[in-house]
Order: sequence, then structure tokens, then C-alpha cells
Amino acid sequence: MAAFKYQLSNRIGPLTVEDYRKLARRAVPDMAWAYLDYGAEDMQTMEANRSAFARYSFKRKVLTGNEARDLSVTIGGEDVSLPVILAPTGTVGLQHWEGERGVAQAAERAGTLSVVSTVGSYSFEEVAEGTARDHYFQLYPWRDLNSGRHDLTLSLIARAQAAGYKAMFVTVDVPVIGNRQTERQRGMGNPPIITPARVLNGAMKPKWWIKFLQHQRISSPNVIDRRGAAAAIAALRKTYTMMRPELTWDDFSVMREHWDGPLYIKGVLHADDAAKAVDLGATGVVVSNHGGRQLDGDVAGLDALPAIAARIGDRAEVLLDGGIRRGSDVVKALCLGADAVMIGRPYLYGMAAAGPAGVEHIIEIFRQEIARTMTLMGVGSLKELDTSWLLPSNTVVPID
Ligand SMILES: Cc1cc2nc3c(=O)[nH]c(=O)nc-3n(C[C@H](O)[C@H](O)[C@H](O)COP(=O)(O)O)c2cc1C
Repeated sequence: MAAFKYQLSNRIGPLTVEDYRKLARRAVPDMAWAYLDYGAEDMQTMEANRSAFARYSFKRKVLTGNEARDLSVTIGGEDVSLPVILAPTGTVGLQHWEGERGVAQAAERAGTLSVVSTVGSYSFEEVAEGTARDHYFQLYPWRDLNSGRHDLTLSLIARAQAAGYKAMFVTVDVPVIGNRQTERQRGMGNPPIITPARVLNGAMKPKWWIKFLQHQRISSPNVIDRRGAAAAIAALRKTYTMMRPELTWDDFSVMREHWDGPLYIKGVLHADDAAKAVDLGATGVVVSNHGGRQLDGDVAGLDALPAIAARIGDRAEVLLDGGIRRGSDVVKALCLGADAVMIGRPYLYGMAAAGPAGVEHIIEIFRQEIARTMTLMGVGSLKELDTSWLLPSNTVVPID
């Protein structure tokens, strides 16, 4: 890997995740933005995800002679060049027509992997065919409304396995859809409500609009036939549902049984749940509140992390997502016990603003920021990161 150059870039253009966020806001219509950037109810969980990081400061050292060069980690048996992978996000085609395929291609160009959503705007097969590496896939556990069986879920697992996906991430924090009222107010309900004003708003983003009409990457081809989407959605609703509050650990065991490879449970915040998942055969746990899109008032992932890492860290992988916007956030998460993190909105900002090249740049921004943070701390290797490098902010340090 090329050595890092810790120079301040003279590049004109976006340099940070927040820069991309501003560009993304201008690039897509209000409906797409509402889906991307808002959360549930009063968005307290979203806010908690962000503010949790500021509650820790670094206890750096000097003259250590250390420089962080190698940021690579292994997740689910696959090597990635930095401890950041891309979280599953639905309907990426709404942000940019190249959708999940473009995101996965950008991830592999940047030396990492993408977790492809069940409700992506490209099918598992399309992403697999368009990429050189095998990526990971995310499963929503659908259930057949009539028989209560797992036919659709099992067929998705079989298809992902056949297409070469390396690891399965089962998302368990959507027993019902979170109350994303801000999203609904802007027409992004289920089904979306299209008004003349919203069509006009879309047309005012001509670059987005033309590609949107040309490619129409908005449905979920894993579960819906792209042609005749409206009829297919109605038929699907009568037969299957993704939101079933009655799912239990027995259902999780069924999925474990049918997936031959690393399996992660995504959406865990309680150490008891993490331990249970590992007891039932999970390779790892994603400590996550779905980016604040589900339960408002949820604990921040970062705050749930230490107890979970303490409980299962010696026998399973621990990933964290939610609110990560800087390399220093990644380093704090690793100090508190994460093996790696996932980012959601940051790469969607890159995608909305600049397509796959934007995603690649976002990953490079994280790489530079992580390396620089560690070197400034006096840390040379990810293995050295632990709680001894952190101090809770605003703590009064005893004078001895
Ligand atoms: C627009 C959007 C769509 C999402 N869709 C999914 C999904 O299909 N499956 C899933 O497991 N998580 C989904 N998530 C949650 C992400 O996987 C991840 O947990 C979250 O984005 C992390 O928080 P961050 O956006 O602050 O990085 C979605 C998140 C966003 C922002």
C-alpha cells in the first residue's frame, strides 16, 4: 500500500464528509434527500449517535516514533485495507442511477467491501456480475403471510450464496418500520406520494432527473419484478411482509442453518442479545440503531459498544455503525472495542454528489483521517487501540 502523505490537500472541492453532505443536498430532489438524511420521530437517536463521539477525548503520547501505515483488517475472513466497510442502504438508485453496483465497484477500488441491501435498486446478481470481488449481503427476514414460512427469505439466501456473496448480515431491528414522519411528510411513504410539485422539484435537478427517467432504478428487484413495479408491489404486499414483530431467535436459527458462511446480526444494542446471537452461531454483531431511523430514544451505538465488546469480543467480531463522520470517530470506536465500523449516509452523500467516484473519495477521506489521527496520537498499529487511549471529555482528572 502506498504510504500516506499527511499533506493538506490543495484540492478545490469537497474535503470532508460534511462537504459531500452539502453537495448531495443540492444534487437530489427533496424526496430522495428526505429518504437519505432524516431519521425517526424527533431524531434524538440520530443526534445521540453523533454526540456520543464528542464525549471522548484522546490521551495521546509524543515521541513514540510510531506512524500508522497499515490500516488493514480481516472481516468475515476477507481482507480490507481499512477498518471501514459500507453499510447496507436501500434504494441507492434514488440517489444516483448506478446504485448498489456503483457503490460496490467504488468500495473495491478503494480496497474495501460493501454490504448489499435486500431492498437495493440492483439485484444481488447484478451487483455480483458487475464487481470483481465477492461482497457481503444484507437480509431482511421476510415471511410468507399465508403460511408463516420463510420461503422468500430462504430463496434470497440461496440466490446470494449462488452469486458468491461471502457473508450474510441479518438485520433484526425492523420488526415494524420506524416512524419516519419527516420522510413521509415529503412524500417518501410506502407507497411514495407523487404530486405535480414533487415532479417539478425532481425536474429542477435536470442531471438527476434525466438519469432517473432513463434508468428508473427505484424498485427492489430482489423481491419485485422491475417491470410493472406497481402491480408487483401490490401482489408482494398480499403475500409477504418484511416487518414481522413475531420473529424470534428460532427464526434466526433457521437463517443460520441455511447460510453457509460468516453471519452477522445487525441492529443489536444489548449485550444479552449479542451473546445470544453468538451462542446461536453468529460470527459477529453489528452494534447499530439503524442510523437513528428506527426507535427514537435508542441508545447511541457507541454507548452500547463497550458492554457488548466486553461480553463477546473474545469470541466474535464486533462492528459498529451510526453517526461516524470522521476518521477520529472510527479510531474512538476501535478504542472502545470495535473490530471495524460501517458507514451509511457518508457514502450516500458521496454517491448523490458525485456517483461512484464520490464514494471512492469518501473512503479515501476516512483512510487519511484515520491514519493521521493515529499518528498524531502516537499509535502505529490498530492492534494498539484500546480504552487506555481515551478520556471521557469534561472529566475532572484527579490531581495527584
Ligand atoms: C437511506 C438509508 C437506507 C438504509 N437501508 C437499510 C437497509 O436496507 N438495510 C439495513 O440493514 N440497514 C439500512 N440502513 C441502515 C444502515 O445500514 C446503517 O445502519 C446506518 O446508515 C448507519 O448510520 P449512518 O448513516 O449514520 O452511518 C439504511 C440507512 C440509510 C441512511
